[in-house]
Amino acid sequence: MVSNQAETKNEHDNKKHLLISKSGPLYGECEISASKNAVLPILAACLLTRETVTIRKAPRISDVYDMVAMLKAFGAHVAEEDDTLKVTAKTIITTAPDEAMASRLRASFLFMGPLLAREGCVTMPLPGGCKIGTRPIDLHIKGFKALGANAVTVSGKVHTWGKTLEGTTIVLDYPSVGATENIITAACLARGVTTLIGAACEPEVRDLICFLQKMGANIRVSEGRVVIKGAGALHGAEHTPIPDRIEAGTLMLAAAVTGGDVLLKGAQASHLAPVSAKLVEAGAEIFPYEEGIRVRGYGARPMEIISAPYPGFPTDMQAPFMAACCAANGVSTINETVFDNRFLHVPELKKMGADITVSGTTAVIRGTGRLRGAEVNATDLRAGAALCIAGIVAREETIVRSIYHIDRGYEDFDGKLKKLGVNIQRI
Ligand code: EPZ
Repeated sequence: MVSNQAETKNEHDNKKHLLISKSGPLYGECEISASKNAVLPILAACLLTRETVTIRKAPRISDVYDMVAMLKAFGAHVAEEDDTLKVTAKTIITTAPDEAMASRLRASFLFMGPLLAREGCVTMPLPGGCKIGTRPIDLHIKGFKALGANAVTVSGKVHTWGKTLEGTTIVLDYPSVGATENIITAACLARGVTTLIGAACEPEVRDLICFLQKMGANIRVSEGRVVIKGAGALHGAEHTPIPDRIEAGTLMLAAAVTGGDVLLKGAQASHLAPVSAKLVEAGAEIFPYEEGIRVRGYGARPMEIISAPYPGFPTDMQAPFMAACCAANGVSTINETVFDNRFLHVPELKKMGADITVSGTTAVIRGTGRLRGAEVNATDLRAGAALCIAGIVAREETIVRSIYHIDRGYEDFDGKLKKLGVNIQRI
């Protein structure tokens, strides 16, 4: 992830902030990386087999490094050859070996389904309730119990056990992405058939299902129902995760608000319908190609946004779009219906002169078309991306601090923005 060859990795890692000055219009093209939220559950699902699994184009992001470290700590062997990971979990332990990492990395909770299925028990620390909300796990536990497992939480750790899981019908009260993924992986080796009703249907969930089917899992999806016929064992497979629709959406937005003309190679237009629709409403032109998506923009416009589970507008795009609304002339409203506390970027945008009023899960943005540069803090990876978008349109220089959040989920974000013409550098 070295943005220029002269810089050593060590020098690169020691730079904690991004310096961004007014830029645009963005022109050119860049390659979209594989999806963070597809590769993380797929890495966890590697524990479902003792054979070797090959994952290609793994993005160079710290969440992937952490998941690989946890796989190794569970006892799996992971060979890393450039962006290809070969995972072989011959013998594993069932208690999270590194509590600090497990509680810091929320996605580590996705190991529970595979471990419960394969070993009949697993102990994990409660996932780090990150800043965007309480992030409960009641739906995951409800699913495990429905499959016949026991589950108790004692002093911050979740213990689940159940020698053989029995297929059953499970109705999810909310289409939780993580709960859907954990229940599907647990059901893969259960005895009998599991029908999951009200499952999440994000492209990343579908990609996990596609990966499991390659491993020999018997899974069918129809009308929001996922039907899993438990198998005795799963075998090795090879898989390239889908492109990251959130990275693509973020770069599409940057191109649109700066009035640019950009080609995002590898982006999958069918995953981005609600994002493209919003950009078209705001005056942009979107051209889906075989090789990716071309975006031509005409500046920022006020928008009405409601985030919702797929196929609704993605909550992970809410913060970047709020930054764009701040740069528009006029009133925008954003209703965040997925997480209960995903407005931590508001105080940071206010430091740049934004006029935003939050009441409950709704934010009203009175855009004046002007933002001023400031020193701001990234509170999570999507807020970090939002502050970069704001920095691109602000009149003066902006410093975005704590960019380790951005490095968690965007591969070479500053390098890609620089390639499209953004005045950005790590400092
Ligand atoms: C996944 O998180 C993604 N993370 C998130 O991306 C994404 O924002 C989210 O799905 C929604 O699309 C990964 O895939 C690694 P949820 P997850 O379970 O699975 C409530 C990013 O920036 N809920 O669908 O944790 C929960 O509190 C990250 O890349 C329960 O009430 O999301 C939230 O309000 C952020 N009980 C809502 O559901 C549960 O048992 C959505 O959560 C589980 C969830």
